[in-house]
Amino acid sequence: MSDEKIQRIGILTGGGDCPGINAVIRAVTKTAMFDHGWECFGIEDGFLGLIEDRIRPLSREDVSNILTRGGTILGTSNKANPAKYAVGEDADGDPIFRDVRDKAVMHYERHKLDALVVIGGDGTMSCAASMIPLGVRCVGVPKTIDNDLMHTHVTFGFQTAVEIATEALDRLHTTAASHHRIMVVELMGRNAGWLTLHAGLASGSDVILIPEIPYRIGKIVELCRERMQHKKAFTIMAVSEGARPAGGEQFVQRTIAESHDPIRLGGIAHHLQEQIEASSDIESRAVVLGHVQRGGRPCAADRVLATRFGHAATELLCRQAFNRLVVVQDGCITSVPISEVADQQRLVGRDEELIAIARSVGTCFGD
Ligand code: F6P
Repeated sequence: MSDEKIQRIGILTGGGDCPGINAVIRAVTKTAMFDHGWECFGIEDGFLGLIEDRIRPLSREDVSNILTRGGTILGTSNKANPAKYAVGEDADGDPIFRDVRDKAVMHYERHKLDALVVIGGDGTMSCAASMIPLGVRCVGVPKTIDNDLMHTHVTFGFQTAVEIATEALDRLHTTAASHHRIMVVELMGRNAGWLTLHAGLASGSDVILIPEIPYRIGKIVELCRERMQHKKAFTIMAVSEGARPAGGEQFVQRTIAESHDPIRLGGIAHHLQEQIEASSDIESRAVVLGHVQRGGRPCAADRVLATRFGHAATELLCRQAFNRLVVVQDGCITSVPISEVADQQRLVGRDEELIAIARSVGTCFGD
C-alpha cells in the first residue's frame, strides 16, 4: 500500500450479477490503461477471490468484446464477507463465522494493489466499508437490478431489468386477454418496489403490488370481478417478490445462512393466484420471472451508464478520492462516501410521483 500515485488496481464484482457489469469492468480497465498507464487485476468471485488469493492480471484482450455481454467475466459471490466469513458449521448445522479480513489484506498487499474498484450493491459496499479501516483503498460502483442503493437515482442493470420485465408483462397481456384470466406475475427487487413499479407502469398492468404499500386481498378481488363484468375480462398483476398483505409478512422462499443478506423472497404469485381463485372463481395463473430479469445483454442505456460509472470510478482513483461510491444525482455523476450506502436500502416513498401517476391512469395498488 502506498500514498504514492496509483499504479496497480484490483477490480471485483460482488452480490448478484446484473447486466452491465462487464461494461464497467471494460470502462475501468481501458481508462486505467489508456489514460493513466495503470495495471489492472481481476479478483475472481468478489471478496471470495481476495480471501482465497484468486487474482489475475487483466489485459486489453480480456476486456475486449465484453461491452454487450451479460453476467460478469470475473465471477461473483454473495457468501464472502471478509469480516464475517463462514468457515464451517457447528453441531446444529449453523455456520461458524470468522473475521478473515487479515487474509484479504495480505493478498491485496501481496499483489501490490494500490486500490480496489468494487462493483456491487449495498451488501458488497458493506464488505468494502469493513476493509477501509485496514488500509484497503476502495472506490465503489453501484450495481443492482433492484435500484435500491441510497444516494443514487439509478444503478446500472435496472433499465435492462425493466425492459425484460416489461416485455414479459406485454406478452402475458395477450394470453391473459385471450383466455379471460388473471395473470399474477412475480418480479424481483427484494424489499424495494422500483422494478415492479416501472415495469408495471410501462406495461399498463392493472394491479401493481410493491413492498412499500401493503395490499388488501379484498380490494384486488373486487377489481378483478369488476373487470370481468365489463369489456376487459382479464387482469394483469405485476407483483414484487417483497410485497405483503396489510398486517402480514413477506413471503420467504429460502434462507442462505452464510450470505450477508440471507433472506431470499418469493412465492407470493402462487399464493395470490390460489387466494384469488378461491374467492372469485376467476381462472388465474402465476408466473415467476425470476433470474431471467438479470440475465443477458444490457440495454443501451445501461451500457452508457455503466461506461460513465467505470470512467468516473477511475477518475476518483486518479484524484485519490478514495472510499467513495460513484452515483447519479439529477442526471450528473458525482460521489458519496461508501459508508453512507453500506447495508442501506432506498425504498419507494409514498410520495413517489410515479405512484400518483399510476393511480391517475387507474392502476390499483391493492390499498
Ligand atoms: O438483488 C438482486 C436480486 O436479483 C433480487 O432482486 C433478488 O431478490 C435476489 O437478488 C435473488 O438472489 P439470488 O441470486 O441469490 O437468488
